[in-house]
Amino acid sequence: MTTKHIKVTVNGEAHEADVEPRLLLVHLLRDTFGLTGTHVGCDTSNCGACTVHVNGRSAKSCTMLAVQADGAEIKTIEGMAAGATLHPLQQAFWDQHGLPCGFCTPGMIMQSAWLLEQNAAPSEEEIRDGISGNLCRCTGYVNIVKAIQQAAAETRAAAETQASAAAPAAG
Ligand code: FES
Ligand code: FES
Repeated sequence: MTTKHIKVTVNGEAHEADVEPRLLLVHLLRDTFGLTGTHVGCDTSNCGACTVHVNGRSAKSCTMLAVQADGAEIKTIEGMAAGATLHPLQQAFWDQHGLPCGFCTPGMIMQSAWLLEQNAAPSEEEIRDGISGNLCRCTGYVNIVKAIQQAAAETRAAAETQASAAAPAAG
């Protein structure tokens, strides 16, 4: 079968691969690059377990071909923590017990991160709407929503602290 040579950046690292035209992005990430934090729950674009960021936008990686990602910047759950420090959403899912089995969690966190980039202070309804493409088979979503609210509040507080530290002293 003919293959196509593609180049992508994943979590800041350059990767190249020869891929079959039918290969899905999720399988490129998991099977070729070994980034198994991105899960496959359905393969039919229903569950959101495969959510990653492609060029800064949330995308279900089972709905994209790897060749469509040629040249793209991709971020996966493996790229969210800063060294040993968890991303605020990862910490909040931990704190709020938003992950009974954890299968949906990587996709849920990637979708939530994109949601908070669009809207730093979402209402509960906006959060529920924002994650409506991500299914959790374990929870009633209550703790997941609480986790996203916690991360949103902490991210806003950190931004305010940073802004006031950068502001010139009055007087
Ligand atoms: Fe992609 Fe379910 S595996 S949406
Ligand atoms: Fe189990 Fe969501 S925590 S599917």
